[in-house]
Order: sequence, then structure tokens, then C-alpha cells
Amino acid sequence: MGDGKAQHSTPNRHGYHAFQIGGFKFERDEYFAHISWPGGNHIMPVDKFLKALMRDVAWNFFYGVVNFDEVFGTTNHYGTVDVFAGLYNGGYRARNKHRMETFRSDEVRPVFEAMLDDWTIEGFDPFAAPEETGTAFGPKRGNNHAAVTRKRVVARRMVGLNDDTPLRGDESGFRVNRHFADVDQTEPEVHAEPGFENEVHAFNFFAYLSRSDVTWNPSITSVVKDSLVCPTTEEFVLPIIHGNDRVEWFVQLSDEIHWDVTDRETGAPRARVVMKAGDVAAMPADIRHQGFSPKRSMLLVWENADSELPELYAKKKLKPNPVDF
Ligand code: PHB
Ligand code: FE
Repeated sequence: MGDGKAQHSTPNRHGYHAFQIGGFKFERDEYFAHISWPGGNHIMPVDKFLKALMRDVAWNFFYGVVNFDEVFGTTNHYGTVDVFAGLYNGGYRARNKHRMETFRSDEVRPVFEAMLDDWTIEGFDPFAAPEETGTAFGPKRGNNHAAVTRKRVVARRMVGLNDDTPLRGDESGFRVNRHFADVDQTEPEVHAEPGFENEVHAFNFFAYLSRSDVTWNPSITSVVKDSLVCPTTEEFVLPIIHGNDRVEWFVQLSDEIHWDVTDRETGAPRARVVMKAGDVAAMPADIRHQGFSPKRSMLLVWENADSELPELYAKKKLKPNPVDF
């Protein structure tokens, strides 16, 4: 296992610090993130890099593989994490040019958090849609600490019941997104039997979601054992290419998302899926996928958080697809 190292103490001429984790070095200039390791190097537009890094940090390395692009990324082993270059790239693998180092997750997280904070300048919000944020480019200028450490709104009890906490409607401080101006904002009427007023609840979930100020950031809104229901609002491109380590179900709640589905190991094309409102898809456990949402849309992601699943799929004790037609 490698070791996480703190940032170098002096910024470069653009004002940004360099970071290192094991053999991987990270530097940014005005336009790009530069990643290097013994035997190779890679370059990514810095807005793309920061949007992927934001999710890797906020989701604690997520499920399975977080490909920042076709070359660089992380694989979550839930306690340890692989940092890799070219590991899931057919070309790198064929020439034996890939590199992978394993760290304790708590070694990588602080380095990634510090890099995200240092490299995100004033006005740039890595969770925002392109039309709703300033630029990521240019010399170091201020920071956006509030955006990169943003925490999801947490309900005190089932949303819809008295004192659930997140203030509803305009009082919440969140405005209805410009793309959801047509979403009905009226709340359902609840007529509870006397004595049950505090137990029966209902709320307008579409209205609630229409005020989401972030994109491609599923929130957990219901937990029943390992079943996690995670709605999210999507616009433009999913900033990571996600390599599944289990099946994920998608329910397209509004509008339309196009998915590129490729082989998890090599990135070879497998399918294109166009999901329209009401469509349901099961994304297999042996693929990677990236979504494209032409306008802001609502997606429900259904995750099975059972920690035994990755091994069952890896050992082929479970089929990668949940349904045969
Ligand atoms: C996914 O990789 O399945 C995923 C990630 C983030 C989203 C939606 C889907 O917002
Ligand atoms: Fe996924």
C-alpha cells in the first residue's frame, strides 16, 4: 500500500499547489490538470477533472469504479481504494502501460479534499450545470469553499410529516430551477382520520426535486434494509464514467437522458440507451456508463447497498444482468 503525502508548501506560478499520493503527482495550470506517475503522464481539462473529483470526494469513492475519463480514476474497495491510470483502458493494458496503487481510503480522501479546495476558484461550482456556474479556468483567484464542502439537506423525520425540517417551497431558500418552471408546485391534500394527523403524510416529490441546485448528485431519500432510493436532477454530462460493481436500476422521472454503455474492463462499446420519462432500465454489473441530459431532468437511481454483492459478481456467482427477456 502506498502513502498519502501532503501538498508541496509553495504554489506554482499560477497560484496552485501540487499534490501527491504515492507515485501519483497532480498539478494544475490555468486550463488543465496534469497527472503523472513513474512511467507515464496524463492531461485533463481542469473543469472536467474538478467535476469528477467533486463527486469522488462527496460520494466517498462511490460504488465500484469512478473513471474521471478513459485513463484516470479510482476503484472503491470500501476501506481501501485503488488509484489508477490506464487500468480500464484496452490500449494501456495491451502495452502494459497501466499503473495502479492501493491506499487506505482515509489516506486518499484528505489529499483529494485539499486538492479540490485549492484548485476550485471563486465562482466555480463543480456540482452546478454549465449555465449555472462561473468558469473553472484561469489563475488562482479566491475559493469556493462553500460549494466544495456542501452537505445535502438532512430531514429530521420522514419528509412530509410535521417538523421534518427542510423548509418547503420558497421558504427553503432553494428556487425552482429554470428548466422545471412547468413543474406543478401544489402540495397534496391529506385528510387523516382524527388521531392520525401526525402519522399520515404526503408531499409533492416533483416540486421538491424541482428545487435541487446541483446536478448528477443522487440523494438518499428512502432506506429499507439495503434498498436505497436515490433521486437526482441531471443536466449536461455525468462528470464520471461509472464502472458498476453491482446492478443499478434507473427510473427516468422526467425528460430524457442518453446513456453510453461500454464494457467495464475495456471501455468497448456495448449499448446506447435513450431513456424517456417513465422508462426503467437495469444497468448490468459488468458495464460502465455515462449519461447525457440535454435539459435538466429527474432521474431515480435505485441502489442495492449489500456489501457482499461486488464479490458475488466478481466470482460470477451472480449473473451481471438481473432480468432475461
Ligand atoms: C451512476 O453512475 O449510476 C450515476 C451517478 C450519478 C448520477 C446518476 C447515475 O447522478
Ligand atoms: Fe452507475
